Amino acid sequence: MAMLEKNFRSDNVAPVAPEIMAALVETNRGTDASYGADHTTERARQAFAALFETELWMQPAATGTAANALCLSVIAPPFGAIYCSATAHISDSECGAGEFFTGGAKIVQLPAKHGKIDPAALEQALATAGKGQQHKVQPAALSITEANERGVVYSVNEVRKLAAIAKAHGLKVHMDGTRFANAIAALGCSPADLTWRAGVDILSFGATKNGAMGAEAVIVFRRELAAELGFRARRAGQVFSKMRYVSTQLEAMLRDGLWLRLAGQANRMGARLAAGLAGVPGVTLLDPAEINEIFCIMPQGLIESLKEDGFGLADRGGGQVRFVTAFTMQPADIDFLIAAAQAHAKRLGLKPQPALVKA
Ligand SMILES: Cc1ncc(COP(=O)(O)O)c(C=O)c1O
Repeated sequence: MAMLEKNFRSDNVAPVAPEIMAALVETNRGTDASYGADHTTERARQAFAALFETELWMQPAATGTAANALCLSVIAPPFGAIYCSATAHISDSECGAGEFFTGGAKIVQLPAKHGKIDPAALEQALATAGKGQQHKVQPAALSITEANERGVVYSVNEVRKLAAIAKAHGLKVHMDGTRFANAIAALGCSPADLTWRAGVDILSFGATKNGAMGAEAVIVFRRELAAELGFRARRAGQVFSKMRYVSTQLEAMLRDGLWLRLAGQANRMGARLAAGLAGVPGVTLLDPAEINEIFCIMPQGLIESLKEDGFGLADRGGGQVRFVTAFTMQPADIDFLIAAAQAHAKRLGLKPQPALVKA
């Protein structure tokens, strides 16, 4: 019997999907051009254009942070303001990369519920931003994370609405799609509908957290933004000399729908985990479970017991815990964790919680 997977700490702990590994081995033959002039990178570009049903420009990137910061650098000047959710990774967890790559743009957090930007708050922030006043940073961009940092997905209409507000004020729209695959797998909509048709100008397309070894892509939907990208990417150290090894991962992800098969499996395991956790006395889900990240609060005793059992989880302090499921997981892995949590809850004498999801 296969060993059960007990590591729910992050999507980064999961291995590389076999299809990606096979693509790397396949690419590792003979020679090809360097710095992105190779055949694999061209095929990856074409695969993205087909997926998004439009002309686009694609630049591979090493990390989600690099992709985000590059995107922001082409849509915001040093004196610009970039609006995002209060929980946005660009604001919270990238050590100022966005500010650095833009040469100093200001990242402005907006109030959010379950990680989603409140359209009224965006409208209010833009109405009072002081556009044209020399003393104020100038509204330049909106950044939406899809799926977001609380494991929640914006619907196509919600993206459209936020983008429309941004556009009405002359802003460009970025989407942090580190978990774009999980969002599409959850929504079942077309990638085009969720991005450029909804008003997104530039996208960070994530592959690493979905089973690649290390590959992300900047996808630009507007020609005028693409002009600068190559220079900025080179300056940022993101133009790989052996680009084909990054591009082959992207190409393999898009081939035969692998990206959605992997994300779909991770999402289904996320839903199973959330349903199981909701039935464990003492556990309260903090957000609707829509992708492969589950956030909850639980008594410290339960957290420590699970850790002692060898389960990997992200202990955020104050009883807050994040669990992440991966494409490698099967129902038995989830059920094993839930059974352990149930047993500990009983031993600790925990009482059922009234609310399934905290408002
Ligand atoms: C929503 C989101 N955006 C961006 C990133 C950055 O990705 P990386 O760690 O590859 O820089 C992460 C990583 O966790 C993320 O969760």
